[in-house]
Amino acid sequence: MDASNRKGAAMQKDITAVSFEDFIAMEPLQKAPYLMQSDGMPFNTLFAQQFERPLLERLCGLATAIRRISKTREGALFLASLLAHKRAMLYFSQPSSRTFLSHLSACEILGMRTGSVRDAATSSELKGESKEDSVRTFSSYFDLIIMRSPSKGLAERMAWVLGNSERPVPIINAGSGKDQHPTQALLDIYTLHRSFETQGGIDGKTVVFVGDLLRGRTVRSLSWLLTRFTDVRQVFVAPDELQIGGDILDLLRERGVTFEVSSDLRRWLPEADAIYMTRIQDEWDRAAGESARIDTSHFKLGDREAAVMKPTAAILHPLPRRDEIATSLDNDPRAKYWRQMRNGMWIRAALIAATFGCAEAIDRYYAANVRR
Ligand code: NCD
Repeated sequence: MDASNRKGAAMQKDITAVSFEDFIAMEPLQKAPYLMQSDGMPFNTLFAQQFERPLLERLCGLATAIRRISKTREGALFLASLLAHKRAMLYFSQPSSRTFLSHLSACEILGMRTGSVRDAATSSELKGESKEDSVRTFSSYFDLIIMRSPSKGLAERMAWVLGNSERPVPIINAGSGKDQHPTQALLDIYTLHRSFETQGGIDGKTVVFVGDLLRGRTVRSLSWLLTRFTDVRQVFVAPDELQIGGDILDLLRERGVTFEVSSDLRRWLPEADAIYMTRIQDEWDRAAGESARIDTSHFKLGDREAAVMKPTAAILHPLPRRDEIATSLDNDPRAKYWRQMRNGMWIRAALIAATFGCAEAIDRYYAANVRR
């Protein structure tokens, strides 16, 4: 089944063997082998469905190794030698602070040089260049493209286009419309993995999602990744207007996952092992003030709510936050959202290292110099 994409990586399935129309029409799980290398590591990272549990565990382990190796000057220099011969392009046509900076930092940890376009208005797209041509242009100068876009499916389209070009460089989806945010889901998993390290791991936990679950792409990707664990119960707490999409619920049913849909946060707080807060995504409003008319006052976490939560619970938020979490909780030991941001840098470094075949070199360095 091995197929080379001509310029390097051996892939599980050859993307040049499938037409654009056939590729786009596939379900994500069907697309996955066209995005994965034959060593089981991702080439393109486009959606959560590509990540099976062994790969999630591998990436969490690698992130921890990178985090610990980087603590010394020698370790940091070793990491920075790994991809010193590669360049990454950050192509962000939607606002971003954390995702942009943590990918940038991840590249720097691995020694990559970077370039960026943060506003399509400053690129030749304004002269009428197609996105296909823009991305192909980036691939002429860079070895990796990290892209965020308001359109669902753009990263997939570009992965097919580049896969069929003379320079098929990998693409990492850093957020695609309301649909997916796979690297955020990876960092959320890494945060849960670290939070539950002494509590038997993620298996068997109850994860409560709160806020704008309809338009929050991070929830959609994380909900999928959680199905890779055993007996994780997912609870979706939102006002009716912003409740999670039926497509996700169908998928959970299909995979036999226990879930609850509720508008009563107080009911679920005492049972939550993790609570995943999100902001109202009003940039997607179809009419001015649409979100403002929804009563979201019962979907916030303050001192009163925290008081009924388990002492071992983990509070996560992809950030940015508005007022969903009171600042008075910021120093509560259960608040993991600051650490979560930094975890993003480590797991993204792990993902990029794995994409470029550096995982084993990191293992060897870690075993010889850090782990005891
Ligand atoms: C999220 C996003 O962009 O989807 N932010 C992030 O990447 N950390 C969540 C959000 O904007 O609310």
